[in-house]
Amino acid sequence: MMERVNRVALIGTGSVGSSYAFALLNQGVADELVLIDLHKDKAEGDAMDLNHGLAFAPANKKIWFGSYEDCELADIVVITAGANQKPGETRLDLLEKNTAIFKTIVESVMRSGFDGIFIVATNPVDILTYMTWEFSGLPVNKVIGSGTILDTARLRFQLSEYFNVDTRNVHAYIMGEHGDSELPVWSHANVGGRSVFDRIQDHPDKYDITDLDTIFEQVRDAAYHIIERKGATHYGIAMGLVRLTKAVLHNENAVLTISGYVNGSYGVDDLYIGVPAIVNRKGVTEIIQLDLNEEEKGKFTESASILKTTMEPVLK
Ligand code: LAC
Repeated sequence: MMERVNRVALIGTGSVGSSYAFALLNQGVADELVLIDLHKDKAEGDAMDLNHGLAFAPANKKIWFGSYEDCELADIVVITAGANQKPGETRLDLLEKNTAIFKTIVESVMRSGFDGIFIVATNPVDILTYMTWEFSGLPVNKVIGSGTILDTARLRFQLSEYFNVDTRNVHAYIMGEHGDSELPVWSHANVGGRSVFDRIQDHPDKYDITDLDTIFEQVRDAAYHIIERKGATHYGIAMGLVRLTKAVLHNENAVLTISGYVNGSYGVDDLYIGVPAIVNRKGVTEIIQLDLNEEEKGKFTESASILKTTMEPVLK
């Protein structure tokens, strides 16, 4: 029986897209990767450059510069194309220009006969994921935004540094908008199964509960600080996108804080927003309903309202 071939089509080979392609190759995820970008030379050069790394990669892969027709047989289309934040710009400021770009991209992908899963990374990612769902006509489970997977990773890193514990044993979520209104879910944050509050109380000599506010601010504002220094962020988000790609292609049933379609959960309707969800070969199969405390519920509702209000002008 023919071995199933996992094809990923990447739309956009800028810093995020190129980093994603590089990470996908180095982690041996997917059998085929087709690069698509308006800037033909860059995409073609990336394909050539990546192919020259194949001898060092953990698995073989067919990599080429292609066209929207190549999306027909793709299992996943990842969209990183669009304008990114400039110093001082918020993610929501990018909405108008990136919505226009997305309409063209998504309609071109759908004309190929694509019936796989979209993974959206371009900002403002929650709203552009909603627009991708609108433009594509695919069911909600097959359109996934990167959401707060990077923010959650940033929080886990900061907490691992603070408590001096391996990041992989620190469990905590950021939910809401991937942006300034996101929120930390402290009520469910734990280090090796012990709540962060209890761990702080266990060692009052070393830890202080007010440090959690500082940690959250570092997470929320991380992109601004990186952009000030190097002009863009790309490695962290690229690795988050590979993690999400793996969860789909390997049918992992992984729980990730993606931008998922919420319609009733958390008291929010008809919105894509950062929530913990189960991801597998079918896309998003379940939004996990956490028991948020009153403060977290209020912040999540506020974040959802900001997304809804911002989205109104682009919803025709
Ligand atoms: C960041 C971009 C991906 O948070 O929005 O780095």
